[in-house]
Amino acid sequence: MAAIDEIAPDIFRVNVMTDPELDFSTSFFLIRDEAPTLVETGFRRVFDETHRAVSQLIDPATLRYVVVPHFEGDESGALNLFLQRAPHARPVCSPVGTAVNADLADRDPLVVDDDSELDLGTRRLRFLITPYVHTWESMLPWDPTTRTVFCSDVFIGPDSGHATTDADQSDYMIEMYRSVGIFPSRAHLDHALDKIEAVRPRTLACHHGSVKTARISAYLQALRATDVTGVTEWNPMTEAPDARHDH
Ligand SMILES: [Fe+2]
Ligand SMILES: [Fe+2]
Repeated sequence: MAAIDEIAPDIFRVNVMTDPELDFSTSFFLIRDEAPTLVETGFRRVFDETHRAVSQLIDPATLRYVVVPHFEGDESGALNLFLQRAPHARPVCSPVGTAVNADLADRDPLVVDDDSELDLGTRRLRFLITPYVHTWESMLPWDPTTRTVFCSDVFIGPDSGHATTDADQSDYMIEMYRSVGIFPSRAHLDHALDKIEAVRPRTLACHHGSVKTARISAYLQALRATDVTGVTEWNPMTEAPDARHDH
């Protein structure tokens, strides 16, 4: 069964362990408001499990928005399955995401950018457009009410069964990024870090690993100080990333 934890008021993390050996899990988030909203969907292959988890928090048929930070199996694989069960739900995508990938969504996306505010009822969701962090279309939603940034694949960390952490796990993050090579350039990463820093996040709602509730400047600093960009020909079929934990 997917784990459910409230990581900020009315923001719930739905988490599934992806690779126990790597201590690597995948989460998505439900914002419970007048317009119930998912940020990411998790993989299609675990939809039965995650749909059941969402059902414990809201009636999934009432979902209004499904935010897609980028199209990829773990971010949006279950998008159309959630849409099928929620007749009024719309995908929410960046301009590039809509132009390039709307074909992957069974319902027309709502297009958002840095100036957009999505009215959820008691809160308004906003967006940071962050190209190539780590796909062309990338954007990171954020909630000004709780200063939560839904940081997608930025600030990847271990899970260890903890929904949140106040520890500094930046070493794991750096080793993981160095070995898998998901960021194409320093300029793109810095552009994203500038935008994230500017909203002064209190919580980093990570899509892989524990949600970070403290030491946020340590993570920003680690990514500024270390080169994690460039070409890496990682073969996930044959090699584990260096951040692998030996149990
Ligand atoms: Fe991704
Ligand atoms: Fe991911």
